[in-house]
Amino acid sequence: MITLALSKGRIFDETLPLLQAAGIEVLEDPEKSRKLILPTNRADVRVVLVRASDVPTYVENGGADLGITGKDTLIEHGSQNLYQPLDLQIAKCRISVAVRNDFDYAFAVRQGARLRVATKYVAIARDFFATKGVHVDLIKLYGSMELAPLTGLSDAIVDLVSTGNTLRANNLVEVERIMDISSRLVVNQASLKLKQAPIRELIDAFSGAVAAREAAQSKA
Ligand code: PRP
Repeated sequence: MITLALSKGRIFDETLPLLQAAGIEVLEDPEKSRKLILPTNRADVRVVLVRASDVPTYVENGGADLGITGKDTLIEHGSQNLYQPLDLQIAKCRISVAVRNDFDYAFAVRQGARLRVATKYVAIARDFFATKGVHVDLIKLYGSMELAPLTGLSDAIVDLVSTGNTLRANNLVEVERIMDISSRLVVNQASLKLKQAPIRELIDAFSGAVAAREAAQSKA
């Protein structure tokens, strides 16, 4: 049995065409079902639904053979025990610094003031501001980061930005782009040895589908 860990939402939706390219069809819609283990048309492949931030933990510890997770999650979790064969180029977004549109970020940074930064991405934020030589007090949050500058909890946030709609709706502006994010395939190292043939087959099918999509996009 091959177990693939996915999170609901964008990653799940954007993984379906890749699975299709590998001849795999998920037989239940996670938005309609409460099931956490989803069967596929292949008796030897199943999908488990976990929180995005739990995907590396499942794969690292053998709760799943493979998983798909964002680069942001991998950096925060640490990925030294995971084999990462492929950037799937899905769920693309960026991780950025944002502030209230009436906050003078450039001035605050120039002044050498301590910046209060609220984020779920503590490791990424710490590294980024350390490299810039900006002193920060990091405030760990688990969601709705946008609220922090609006309520005075922080001066800035470090969060994912995709369309920018959430920032705009909350009168926030992006002031620095930290890095581009996309989702990666991660594989348990023992599974790679013990179930080499089916896992290689899956990696190759995904890789072919990613290359075909990139080629089609560059032509368009
Ligand atoms: C992310 C992020 C922002 C939003 C940005 O949240 O935290 O809130 O998407 O997208 P936009 O630029 O297109 O508006 P997500 O929906 O992934 O949920 P989360 O808050 O659980 O991270």
